[in-house]
Amino acid sequence: MPDNPVSVVVLAAGEGKRMRSNIPKVLHPVAGRSMLTRVLDTASALSPQAIYGVYGHAGDIVRSACADYAVNWVHQAEQLGTGHAVAQALAAIPDNHQVLVLCGDVPLIRATTLKALMAQANGTVGVLTVELETPTGYGRILRDADGAVIGVVEEKDASPIQRQITEVNAGLMCLPAGHLRAWLSELDTGNAQGEYYLTDCISQAHAQGVPVHTYACPDPWEVQGVNDRVQLAAVERACQRRQAHALMRDQGLALADPDRFDLRGSLQVGRDCFIDVNVVIEGDVVLGDNVHIGAFSQIRDTHIAAGTRLLGHCQIEDTHIGEDCQVGPFARLRPGTALAKGARVGNFVEVKQTQVGPGSKINHLAYVGDATLGAGVNVGAGTITCNYDGKRKHHTDIGDNVFIGSNSALVAPLEIGNGVTIGAGTTVRENIAADCLAVDDRRPRQVDGWRRPGESVVDRHDSDDDSTAKGVR
Ligand code: UD1
Ligand code: CA
Repeated sequence: MPDNPVSVVVLAAGEGKRMRSNIPKVLHPVAGRSMLTRVLDTASALSPQAIYGVYGHAGDIVRSACADYAVNWVHQAEQLGTGHAVAQALAAIPDNHQVLVLCGDVPLIRATTLKALMAQANGTVGVLTVELETPTGYGRILRDADGAVIGVVEEKDASPIQRQITEVNAGLMCLPAGHLRAWLSELDTGNAQGEYYLTDCISQAHAQGVPVHTYACPDPWEVQGVNDRVQLAAVERACQRRQAHALMRDQGLALADPDRFDLRGSLQVGRDCFIDVNVVIEGDVVLGDNVHIGAFSQIRDTHIAAGTRLLGHCQIEDTHIGEDCQVGPFARLRPGTALAKGARVGNFVEVKQTQVGPGSKINHLAYVGDATLGAGVNVGAGTITCNYDGKRKHHTDIGDNVFIGSNSALVAPLEIGNGVTIGAGTTVRENIAADCLAVDDRRPRQVDGWRRPGESVVDRHDSDDDSTAKGVR
């Protein structure tokens, strides 16, 4: 590859009408990240001298969505065509640069493909092509009898014979800046769409004896553009498939079904991890060795250590789960939760901003928020930390080996010492010293011969199920 510095121009001025959306087209996400930032990441991987972003509509929104990238933004006030768009950026690019044109709505392009294209061009012109059975809508590559590229004709300008060509322009190309400047200045709008076509530079290159090389893209998904929501969904699936296959091949992840797995962020896994169907991973998630994730779970920004099993239908966010824990089914772990080794959080349990000590269990139907639990704690079914007084949140501190009977209410702020036992159904409003029993021993009032409204004693004894009737007092 020649040493010419590379300037990348990302075209993103199109309005994207067919998306029928208030969000600029290039900001629609694919696997959790906008199409435009995907293209900017790929461009950055080529270590170019500079990246230019050509925007048209909603400039503020587009720019702020890409604030993490060093992009020179160029405004194209009117969308007069791809040639006109490139010309807006070219003013700032020196003649000795190689200009690589990318599209903000072609998000799956790989850096390796672009490197191959530029190596092929070797400082001259390189056009990325793809063979399509149904080439409708694309510009066709025109070749002479010797196979040399002589131009690109747009679908709308093509003759019926030209339309039968299945080798098409993917829309991504590289050209030497000095020549490109001259060619762009020669463009006119005498074509079916009344636009300045970047593709018309190709026939100029040929006419001036500048070689035009092509590189056939091995994977058509890389050059799939997005114009509407159907194409966006198709590109999403292609991207998900690509990610799933990489996780299986490169990290040894076992996926029950790669077609029913969604990653919108990054996932790092240890050895022998298994993920069941319909799991969604978001943000940055790390799994240690031998972690099993049950079906229908959603996990975001979470670290799960080795040997832990997550049963189905869990919602987990911003949580740290230690080794050999068991979570779910139907558990909700909210931000700030940390489970130490061997902890268990069972079904219909919500935990928030809470440290759960080693081996502690919250197995059924509980809410534990803003709390610290020591080791070996057992939280009974129906236990609630009453952490909110209507204005502020308060903390509950629970020592080691505490046993909390079912249906207890723990009114924070509260400290419960080591070894405390709390009887079922107790409302705890005061701190409890170590090893004490806290019990609410109000007896239920008994009313003899109670009749329910409209019910006579005879009705009661006529009941079909005699045994239950006798049990009622
Ligand atoms: C273009 C190519 C066609 C190729 C196809 C591949 C031209 C003339 N045609 O056609 O050969 O097969 O891509 O998808 O280049 N854009 C601007 N400003 C403009 C016009 C377009 O920024 O004034 C941007 C669009 O936002 C888009 C890209 O350029 O990202 C391509 O434009 P589009 O109108 O989609 O070009 P096609 O007609 O599809
Ligand atoms: Ca297009």
